[in-house]
Amino acid sequence: MLKLISPAKVNLFLRVIKRRPDGYHELASLFQAISLSDVIHFSISNTGVDHLTCTDPALPTDASNLILKAAELFRRKTGLRFALEAHLEKNIPSQAGFGGGSSNAATTLWAVNQLCGNTATNTELMRWSSEIGSDIPFFFSQGTAYCTGRGEIVQDLPPILSEPLWVVKPLQGLQTQEVFRQLQLSKLNNVHQDPLQALRGFLIGKPSYFNDLEGAAFEALPLLSSLKQSLIDSGFHTVTMTGTGSGFFCLGQAKLPEQPGLFCRSATGLNRTANAWWN
Ligand code: C5P
Repeated sequence: MLKLISPAKVNLFLRVIKRRPDGYHELASLFQAISLSDVIHFSISNTGVDHLTCTDPALPTDASNLILKAAELFRRKTGLRFALEAHLEKNIPSQAGFGGGSSNAATTLWAVNQLCGNTATNTELMRWSSEIGSDIPFFFSQGTAYCTGRGEIVQDLPPILSEPLWVVKPLQGLQTQEVFRQLQLSKLNNVHQDPLQALRGFLIGKPSYFNDLEGAAFEALPLLSSLKQSLIDSGFHTVTMTGTGSGFFCLGQAKLPEQPGLFCRSATGLNRTANAWWN
């Protein structure tokens, strides 16, 4: 049995560069892992079939779940045969931009590799993982990374985030594909804003937080713009959407707005050493 944590992420900045011929979007984004985490229990079973259970009854536990997709990917890449038994304690909200499903997939690849005798390297797991999701490779980084391509090209960086943050998500979620579909690149007006300059800002201690997908997400879910405003009014100096939303991360001191169903948690940046999983 192996019990591992599976952390969330936020995008400290996210620039959309262009739409690609394959339908994906070229991105440049600074990713940071955070302490908000799921916990997953893994074991190899002799039943011949994968079996997943989850504390959240709303989540599918069939082959569409990224945990089981990751187990299948590992079998395909290594030729090994095994069945996985997994139990997911879900704490990271879904459809929020916190990368919960992607993190679960990365954690599963790490776990089955451990349980099957460590046949693959971290680099192989990272490369394979991009076949089932653009955000999964990030979770094989050490916690702070500049990600490009469709998100799967990962450049590790030293830890950047020193202050604690709050993560906030309304009841309503957003689907990644839907937000990208809503995006009107001509409205972005960011052509002269070099993401490498934004990255340099973080590296010299002059961060600027932004997400080019906010406009599209706010159009898909209009209550997000009033939620953002109420978080700013409550005292945070920074309120930025993460990924394709509908979650935000907030920096500074504030008295959180009281809204029914609002998910609010404090968190810190999380980094790991190369040879150990997140803890
Ligand atoms: O790679 P992933 O499965 O997470 O992507 C889900 C969907 O989000 C894709 O099918 C695509 O429509 C959109 N997407 C995108 N550009 C990216 C990442 C995702 O358009 N860089």
